[in-house]
Amino acid sequence: MSTHQSIVRAIDREAMAGWYRRTRERTRRLFEIPLDEVWYDRPIPLRNPIVFYEGHLPAFAVNTLVKLAQRGKGIDDHFESLFERGIDPEDETAVRDPAEMWPSREDVQRYGQEADALIERALLNLDDTDPVEVEAASNIVEHELMHQETLLYMFHNLPYSKKRNVIGGDSALSASPREKGLMRSGGCSIPPGPVTLGADGSSFGWDNEFPRRVVHVRTFDIDRFSVTNSEYLAYMNATGAKAPHFWSAVDGEWFWRGMFEMLPLPLDWPAWVTHDEAAAYARWCGRRLPSEAEYGRAALGASGGNFDFASFDPDPVGSHPDTASRWGVHDLIGNGWEWTSTVFDGFEGFRPMATYRRYSADFFDGQHYVMKGASPATARELVRPSFRNWFRGNYPYVWAKFRTVRQC
Ligand code: AVJ
Ligand code: FE
Repeated sequence: MSTHQSIVRAIDREAMAGWYRRTRERTRRLFEIPLDEVWYDRPIPLRNPIVFYEGHLPAFAVNTLVKLAQRGKGIDDHFESLFERGIDPEDETAVRDPAEMWPSREDVQRYGQEADALIERALLNLDDTDPVEVEAASNIVEHELMHQETLLYMFHNLPYSKKRNVIGGDSALSASPREKGLMRSGGCSIPPGPVTLGADGSSFGWDNEFPRRVVHVRTFDIDRFSVTNSEYLAYMNATGAKAPHFWSAVDGEWFWRGMFEMLPLPLDWPAWVTHDEAAAYARWCGRRLPSEAEYGRAALGASGGNFDFASFDPDPVGSHPDTASRWGVHDLIGNGWEWTSTVFDGFEGFRPMATYRRYSADFFDGQHYVMKGASPATARELVRPSFRNWFRGNYPYVWAKFRTVRQC
């Protein structure tokens, strides 16, 4: 036990436990946003109430790391089944009556504290020769980070009178700076060539990131900037298309329904819309949405941007020119997920992961579209080229933007 190797491993386990603790700390701050009185409410009607998420995060960690990977004992079998899994937004039959079945907030928070102590011990004792335990350790942190985004877009949907900005102004959760930028328009021609999709397995990835593969992409033209509110408004006026979920009309003027306040619609912000709205806009232009592979090729060399809780809002398009891809395409990472035309599915040779067999496979139903990049509410740890997100085409809540392409 006194070898160099074991010392390195001991330090890694400390780092893992610290990562878990800091992630939990951010989650606790996010749960202070909604007032107590809405704790059993569902800000998104087809999702579980807020209470579910406060129990789901620690219960998922116990189920995955302690019970499944380490074959240990949990804390409370009832909670660990009640809070096991969320629901797909269109599965109405799974929505249960909150008053009758959810425990008190005290009980859920006490469970969370016990779970945190158990998880930290489990991480400090992690057997890093066991690939299932190693996978579980990253799984539970990345799972929590993804749900921090769920929480933010869910709280976005609460009435202003039912929440408080305990986080302060922008960026109190993050160190990322914000910049001002200018907006330009026009397309960019991407030459034909290869792009690698998926991860190499040298660090954690979800099952849908494997196996890695190389795809050849034909030449195409892509918008250098995301479609803006101004452009979307012109399209609405021309076609009668309805306004995006995040807009509100007051006395004939359009407003942006921000997280904590309404703003006159910022015309140079990206239009946050559903996949179906984005695809209809693209069709109207005689264009289409990029495929996952086209996005990946356009994004080669892109870095940074508005993510990692830098803001509750997007920045004006083109605000981070130093993060543009090698072809000069802006904002491919951050400022809102990017919708693609690719139906979510496993890569050739897909295998469900040991520590969450239903993570992806349950959604290979032809109804979900791949999203790439990141939103302002996406944690830094999730921002990697291989990360794949997905939602239904008509899901209006997630912070997602788009751009259009055309074959050359
Ligand atoms: C990958 C973001 C679509 O939020 O539904 C969380 C992630 N899966 N718990 C979701 C997830 C199970 C998932 N997304
Ligand atoms: Fe979950």
